Amino acid sequence: MADTFILGIESSCDETGAAVVRSGEQILSNVVFSQIATHMPYGGVVPELASREHLRAIVPVVRKAMADAGQTYQSVDALAVTQGPGLAGALLVGLSYAKALAFALDKPLIAVNHLEGHIHAVLLEERQKGNHEVNFPVLALVVSGGHTHLYLAEQKGKSWSYGNIGHTRDDAAGEAFDKVAKLLGLGYPGGPIIDRLSSHGDAKAVKFATSQIKHPDRKNRGKSDNLIARTDFSYSGIKTAVLRYVETHGMAAAIARRRNTLAGIEKPNLEDYLALCDMETLNLVASFQRAMVEDLVAKTLTAAEACEAATLFVTGGVAANQELRQRFESESAQQGLPVFFPSRPLSTDNAAMIAAAAYPKWLARDFAPMDFSAEASLPLQRIQV
Ligand code: KG4
Ligand code: ZN
Repeated sequence: MADTFILGIESSCDETGAAVVRSGEQILSNVVFSQIATHMPYGGVVPELASREHLRAIVPVVRKAMADAGQTYQSVDALAVTQGPGLAGALLVGLSYAKALAFALDKPLIAVNHLEGHIHAVLLEERQKGNHEVNFPVLALVVSGGHTHLYLAEQKGKSWSYGNIGHTRDDAAGEAFDKVAKLLGLGYPGGPIIDRLSSHGDAKAVKFATSQIKHPDRKNRGKSDNLIARTDFSYSGIKTAVLRYVETHGMAAAIARRRNTLAGIEKPNLEDYLALCDMETLNLVASFQRAMVEDLVAKTLTAAEACEAATLFVTGGVAANQELRQRFESESAQQGLPVFFPSRPLSTDNAAMIAAAAYPKWLARDFAPMDFSAEASLPLQRIQV
């Protein structure tokens, strides 16, 4: 079959991405412009600022992706863009740009669900390594700043289907990492710094209980996907437990000092953080991470057993976490379940995963109509191509 070159564009949150991928299996370029520096002073993503930064970055990012790939606009076969879920204003920047470019070039445009992209990030890299033997059904844990979702993915020929068998009832896991880091004066985004600090603390020092969801999800009661027992997550409780610990252990003054000192350092490194954290803080951070990891691993493996998954994918920003990877690797091995993660650059938001997810749609000639628009809450369910 002839090679297919797809230019992918991603702008759902705080990263502007463009990438060229060949036939869903080889990354020719993958350019990501991160807005972390813009949002850092606010301790989280500010939607209006995100849209403004995407507007600034989109043209140079796409041009660089094309140049890095050695492609011309004429040589790409199709464009792919994230339709949702994400921040509406941010999505619209990538989507409008992709629509205009596709219209001007008279090339097909493919709409991709961001979560589908995270799942295809794993498949893309496995194919790139020469592994074409992933067994289905795949249970995918998509765990990021906006999502903690479990999907059961099936591939039959050109047709893909995704069944959501669990999600967070409140905060996403990445959101919990970010909020806890903010609360402890560690800056934004919280996941990477908590990851690096955790190995310096005692993870058994503080006992945290994560919520076990026993009552049925009212919204989904009676729907057919309840045929498989749902596995839901909840992380707002652990964030409140950290807050309570901080209050009852008189840590507020030290946190304020740390926050002020870090604000004055342009790019703090691990030594800067360590110099500003006492043992009590490091123990708290390590214990929080341990509780998060144990909950994510235990619930996902229980779900994998219940739905007889043949393979496990762990993907999304939080999949970059070192302890999470190690735990999944050792515990999946005990269960005899192969587990795959994307590399770190492909765990967080990027456009290569969007171009890869678009490839099966290209094969099925599933192109977006010109009047399609961004959908902030676009669900990924039972997509049949
Ligand atoms: O996938 P992503 O780039 O964007 C979303 O779609 O949300 O994920 C970003 C999230 C943030 O919450 C960030 O703190 C978290 O992923 N994250 C991590 C790590 N690296 C990024 N969480 C835990 N450990 C990490 N190493
Ligand atoms: Zn994402």
